Amino acid sequence: MYIKNKGSIAGPMFKIPFMGPFIQALYPDFEEYKKQWASGKLSCISVFHKFVVLTPDRDLTHKVFNSPAFVKPCLVPVAEDIIGPNGWVFLHGKAHVDYRKGLNTLFTRKALECYLPTQEAVLSDYFGRFVQASRDNGGNPLPFMGLFREINCAVSCRTFVGHYISDEAVKKIADDYYCITAALELVNIPLSLYVPYTKVWKGKRAADGVLAEFAKCAAKSKIHMAAGGKPTCIIDRWILSMIESKRYRDNEAAGIENGEKPSILLREFTDFEIGQTMFTFLFASQDASSSATTYLFQIMAQRPDVLDRVRQENLEARNGDVNAPAGLQMLESMVYTNAVVKELLRYRPPVIFVPYEAKKPFPVTPTYTVPKGAMIIPSCYPALHDTEVYNQPEMFDPERWISGDASEKSRNWLVFGAGPHNCIAQQYVQITMTAMIGKAALELDWVHHPTARSEEIKVFATLFPMDDCPLVFTKRA
Ligand code: HEM
Repeated sequence: MYIKNKGSIAGPMFKIPFMGPFIQALYPDFEEYKKQWASGKLSCISVFHKFVVLTPDRDLTHKVFNSPAFVKPCLVPVAEDIIGPNGWVFLHGKAHVDYRKGLNTLFTRKALECYLPTQEAVLSDYFGRFVQASRDNGGNPLPFMGLFREINCAVSCRTFVGHYISDEAVKKIADDYYCITAALELVNIPLSLYVPYTKVWKGKRAADGVLAEFAKCAAKSKIHMAAGGKPTCIIDRWILSMIESKRYRDNEAAGIENGEKPSILLREFTDFEIGQTMFTFLFASQDASSSATTYLFQIMAQRPDVLDRVRQENLEARNGDVNAPAGLQMLESMVYTNAVVKELLRYRPPVIFVPYEAKKPFPVTPTYTVPKGAMIIPSCYPALHDTEVYNQPEMFDPERWISGDASEKSRNWLVFGAGPHNCIAQQYVQITMTAMIGKAALELDWVHHPTARSEEIKVFATLFPMDDCPLVFTKRA
């Protein structure tokens, strides 16, 4: 693999051992990566034809996220083949802002509340599977990262497209999704998309399958919503907004007295467009949510003191009834469980950096301009582990969000990026993770069986423990 140092930018050059061209695995050795950040300097490398600049600190990271005139998000080239070239994630500037306005309504508090019952049913189902998997393995530790990926895929599919999709299709998407992540390499062998059994070929086939499934769901939801159905998933809500927008426009055109104007007037989207947008949600959520889930279960098993408090708080919130369903208000009211989720996302941020591309020469510091076409990568991890901001940042300490001052350090909170492309699902993530760990605490016991590699971090799009998290689950009496 060819790596060439380019000229010094604002400090020393770095020669980086590079084992694979997958951009999120730019530094296969996570410790090596941390050293680059610790230098506090902009660093640059050349990966094949691509010139890549990494920001080392919070302020430069904010600068990149908040400079849409100079940069745009940069997905790996193969993403266009996987998602389709017209996907909204390739939009930037005004077109992106306009499109996103319509999507923001799918993540309001009211919307999040309506997804909860479906999500809770998926959790119940998968918690049963966790226990069964441990039982089938004779009560011996089993690496759970795969099942954590599956539960997230199921939560996502059911939240996005509800019960318009079969259990079998959800399972197939969960199984195939791994091929999609694996296909997202920065550099691929030319035309490998057309060469059977290459990673890209497999990834593209898997993606086409998901897109087709989601488009079919959109068609079914359109029928259901037009017949006055109650929305229970994201596509239902989106399609209902389209119906209401059309009614409003039609009434206006016909001079009929109109009700309240919808907060945003949407055009009608085709089944394929809706399916494609749901696919981009899955694409954005699957690896990050799976990473957070894996670490959440690992760390809770390592910290019985924290898990006990989560359990206690969840029991009290349900007035002692373990089977009481979780509502939005209840989930938001649990101060400690929310702090655990926030701390988890700070301590093991799933997304350590986000690739952007310079649309034109970008004067990122007074002495250095990123050339047009180069990749400029704002780093999220250093700000979340900054010793000057977080006391003992390498310690998992939910209390820092309650009695400490972590909540005031919002500028360092880069878990979800910043600026116009920041994560659309920040509240969604906080709510679903709080619901997941609260319910698990009440219904399950689990034990972590540490190995020599449990604390080593691997990067597979996002962060995971090197040993895939060996656990044993049992049902709580
Ligand atoms: C722990 C879970 C998650 C983390 C840590 C995370 C983090 C991120 C980050 C860092 C970005 C890039 C922000 C930027 O460029 O400024 C992003 C973008 C995005 N995320 Fe998330 N995310 C998570 C889960 C989700 C979920 C569950 C969904 C969908 C339901 C989602 C949908 C999106 C979308 C659509 C974007 C692109 C937004 C745009 O370009 O306007 N994410 N996320």
